[in-house]
Amino acid sequence: MPRHVAIIMDGNGRWARQRNKPRHAGHRAGVESVRSTIEVCVERGIEALTLFAFSSENWRRPRSEVDLLMELFMVALSREVRKLENNNIRLRVIGDPTAFPKRLQKQIIEAEQRIANNDGLLLQIAANYGGRWDITRAARRLAVEVAAGRLSPEAIDEERFARETAFSDVVDPDLFIRTGGEHRISNFLLWQCAYSELYFTPVLWPDFDRQEFGRALAEYASRERRFGQTSEQINLAG
Ligand code: IPE
Ligand code: IPE
Ligand code: MG
Repeated sequence: MPRHVAIIMDGNGRWARQRNKPRHAGHRAGVESVRSTIEVCVERGIEALTLFAFSSENWRRPRSEVDLLMELFMVALSREVRKLENNNIRLRVIGDPTAFPKRLQKQIIEAEQRIANNDGLLLQIAANYGGRWDITRAARRLAVEVAAGRLSPEAIDEERFARETAFSDVVDPDLFIRTGGEHRISNFLLWQCAYSELYFTPVLWPDFDRQEFGRALAEYASRERRFGQTSEQINLAG
């Protein structure tokens, strides 16, 4: 079982188009997949789930779609927070929140604080997140420390660098899923996915149900993670 699963939830627009519905119908339908995915993670004892909800490039979409996504985010947050609370789920929004509507920023902080003391599944929502933003911000933070004389450049190693990235206290994703059929990372977790098992499925996000997630987990279980070693070494250790 992976400890940490990260998902690019893609294909909402195409799901809607297949049904002759507007794109927002696909985004709404996708909320149900978020629910079932969270439930499976809780049931299977997965420690962390990171969902890509809005990329730093998604601002390039038509204004009406961006507005709708913000609205949907707010509604889902206020509707679901109690359920998250009752299921002992912790919430963290990663990304740059400053570009969001003030109301949403406030809601995020309130929701995070309300369930801060939970210690079950860590649910991370990546919103206005970009992998390059994350790495650049880490570099900038370290540069500030060096310039202030609090850190020597020699002390910067991978572990120190990782501590300045968005999820410094969470293990890297073991399983990285992208729905919707595209075979690309789209500026999601760049630093953290160095050794993630990648799983691409043509299934559109609103169709990604418990069974589909089960398939991904089964595929993960069948992979041999070698981290540079040989198969023989892994089997001897195991
Ligand atoms: C993913 O679905 C959701 C977001 C990016 C917010 P899309 O909206 O990208 O759906 P497709 O890729 O157009 O089908
Ligand atoms: C990636 O999907 C972002 C999210 C799922 C939030 P996109 O649909 O925006 O990715 P590209 O632009 O097709 O690569
Ligand atoms: Mg897409």
